[in-house]
Amino acid sequence: MIQRRSNLPKADDPKEYNLEESTLVGPPLPGEVIVSKTVDQLIDVLAAELVATAVICVRKFGDFHLALSGGNTPQPLYERLMYDPNCRNLPWAHTHLWLVDDRCVPLDDDRSNFKMINETIGTHSGIPAEQVHPIAAMSETADTDYESQLRQALQHREAGEDRLDFVLLGMGHDGHTASLFPQQEVLHERVHIVRRVEAEQADPPWRVTMTFPLINAARMVSVLVTGSAKAPMIQRLASGHETVDELPIKGVLPVQGELKWFLDAEACGHGD
Ligand code: 6PG
Repeated sequence: MIQRRSNLPKADDPKEYNLEESTLVGPPLPGEVIVSKTVDQLIDVLAAELVATAVICVRKFGDFHLALSGGNTPQPLYERLMYDPNCRNLPWAHTHLWLVDDRCVPLDDDRSNFKMINETIGTHSGIPAEQVHPIAAMSETADTDYESQLRQALQHREAGEDRLDFVLLGMGHDGHTASLFPQQEVLHERVHIVRRVEAEQADPPWRVTMTFPLINAARMVSVLVTGSAKAPMIQRLASGHETVDELPIKGVLPVQGELKWFLDAEACGHGD
């Protein structure tokens, strides 16, 4: 069973959220919170949202700009997009596939986000090769090059619609998202939409990442968080008062788009 809750954080209402199996009410996070009992059910909903957004965008603009994250959490979603008959409507022929971030390793390195995403989606979806946009993360100019590619690919759209259509984010145990790690100056970037960053706590430390001005301009930002290991961070986000410097994911606040959290019961602190 799925329950949606739409709310804004209320400073004067820091009450603990409660998720019971029968109600599946999510924690109070900014935007819409979608909670499912299992990862599989959650991915059903997320995949359906993604396909619906893609169909609408292709109808409106002739193309769909999708930015995907790396990490382990979204892999079942990427696989689902390939085999589930309900995902067949995804218009891959008109889709541009972007990377939210990547590690500064060669594209065939096992740590490369592009490698994982391309092996799962790129080669099986039928997406035209020129619409797949890896970050050339080993290059010193990877950030400015990627920024130019993005601007060029979106320039045919009218002002205001020249933005990413769907950004899928994950969240690390330390509250990072994309390669936006705690206490990094890039969290306050206002001009550049892609940056090359060094985060000592990350492995590998050098990354290239989309920044908040790009992420928060998107039509739809979805944050997928699953598993009990992420529950303490979800709890902190829901009830704490930390800053973006402490918990970078707090900087995800779309300006003229939608924010949706996709959480399984375990991420909400409710295991079996
Ligand atoms: C990356 C990601 C990163 C990821 C989180 C969560 O390159 O690793 O883009 O932001 O989403 O670290 O990763 P997991 O899903 O593996 O926990």
